Amino acid sequence: STHQTWGGRFSEPTDAFVAAFTASIGFDQRLYRHDIRGSIAHATMLARVGVLTPDECAAIVTGLGEIEAEIERGEIEWSVALEDIHMNIEARLTERIGTVGKKLHTGRSRNDQIATDIRLYLRDGIDAVASELTRLRRALIELASREADTVMPGFTHLQSAQPVTFGHHLLAWQEMLDRDQQRLLDARKRVNVMPLGAAALAGTSYPIDRHVTAELLGFERPAENSLDAVSDRDFAIEFTSFASLLMMHLSRMSEELVLWTSARFDFIDLPDRFCTGSSIMPQKKNPDVPELVRGKTGRVYGHMISLLTLMKSQPLAYNKDNQEDKEPLFDTLDTVLGSLRAFADMMPAVVAKRDNMALAARQGFATATDLADYLVRRGIAFRDAHEIVGHAVAYGIEQDRDLSQMSLDELQRFSDHIGEDIFEVLTLEGSVAARNHIGGTAPDQVRAAADRARRALDVL
Ligand code: ARG
Repeated sequence: STHQTWGGRFSEPTDAFVAAFTASIGFDQRLYRHDIRGSIAHATMLARVGVLTPDECAAIVTGLGEIEAEIERGEIEWSVALEDIHMNIEARLTERIGTVGKKLHTGRSRNDQIATDIRLYLRDGIDAVASELTRLRRALIELASREADTVMPGFTHLQSAQPVTFGHHLLAWQEMLDRDQQRLLDARKRVNVMPLGAAALAGTSYPIDRHVTAELLGFERPAENSLDAVSDRDFAIEFTSFASLLMMHLSRMSEELVLWTSARFDFIDLPDRFCTGSSIMPQKKNPDVPELVRGKTGRVYGHMISLLTLMKSQPLAYNKDNQEDKEPLFDTLDTVLGSLRAFADMMPAVVAKRDNMALAARQGFATATDLADYLVRRGIAFRDAHEIVGHAVAYGIEQDRDLSQMSLDELQRFSDHIGEDIFEVLTLEGSVAARNHIGGTAPDQVRAAADRARRALDVL
C-alpha cells in the first residue's frame, strides 16, 4: 500500500508526472470556502441521522472552521500529491483533529463534492453577475433619461437612416441586458439543485437525509437521480451560453463606443481614466476598455464550446474528463464580472457631444422618410411619395444641401402638395417627436420607457 488516500489497493506510488498531470489543486483551490461549507452541512446531517455522534460532528465542524481561517490567512500549503481541494482539506482536517476527521467522508464521494462545490460557487457567481448587471442597467437608464432629448443619426447598414434620440439608443442596450438577466435568473434555478448523497453514483446505504443537507446549503431540492447528479455539467454550459449572449451584447456596445469616440464620429467623450495613451504617438487617447471587452468575447464563446465538447461523449456517470470543466467556467465568470464592472463604472461618465450628434443627424438626408410621410398625410400613396422624395434627395446631393436647407419653391418642384408647414416636419426635433408611441424614439417615450425600466429594476 502507498501513502495515498486511496492507496490501499495500489502496490506502487503514482508516477510523479502523472500526479502533477492529474492534479486539480492548482485551479480548484478557489473552491475552498464552498467545499468547507458543503462538508459542514454533510457532517451536520450525518449527526442528525445518528451516523456521527454530536461530539464527532462538533470536532469536524470546528476543525473545518479553523482550516478555513488558516486558508484565509494564507497559511495552507497546497499539496499536488493530495490532488485536489477535497483531499487537501480532508488531510489537513485529520492532521488537526485526528482520526475522527477520517469519518467526514462517510456516505460521500469526491464526485458529489465537486458537483456540489461548483454549483455553490456558481450560484454565488451568478448573484455577483446579477448585481453588476443591475448596476450597468441602472447607469444606462440614468444616462438615457439625461439624453432623452439628444438627437443623433440612427443607422441601418451603418448608413444614416433616420434621426433617433440618444436616450432611445441607450435604452435599446438596456433591453438587451434585461433579456440577458432573465436568462441568468432562469439558469440559476437549475444550478440550485443538490448533488450530495449521490455517493459517487448509486446513492448510499447510510440513512442519510438529503433534504436536511439541501436546506443547510440553501439548495432548492436534492437532485432526483444519483447518476445524473454527479455527471452532468449542463448547468455550467447554460451559464456559459448566457455569458456568450451577454458578451455578444457588450461587444456590440463596445463597437459603437469605439466608433463614437473616433474623430470621424466624435459623438461622445470617454473620461481619461477609462482610456490609455500610446507609447509612440503623443496625441493618442485610445478606448481600451470597450476594445478589450469586445476582444474578451471570443474567449467566452470558446469556453462555451469547450464545455459542450467536454460533455458530448461521456458515458454515465462521473468521468475524470469533468475536471476540465473548472477553468473554462471560472474564466467565464471572471471575464463577465470584469467586463460588467468596467462598463458599469464607465457608462455614467460618458459625455454626449450633443452638437456633433445633431450635426451628423442633419447630414445624410435623415429626414427623408419624414417628408414622404408628410406627403402620405396629404393623400399621396407611400410608393409615389417615396419616389418624389428620392428625386428631392438626388437634387440635394447634387446641390450639397439637406432637405431642410431648400426653399419652399425648390421643394415644390418635386410636389405641389408641399406647403410652408414642411419645415417643422424636416427639423430633427419634429422628426423624433413625431415617433410618439410605445417603443418609439420620441423624447417623451424615452422618459416613459426609462421610468418603466427603473421600476422593473426596483422590484428585481
Ligand atoms: N478533481 C475532480 C474534478 O474536478 C474531483 C472529483 C474527482 N473524483 C474522482 N473520482 N477522481 O472533477
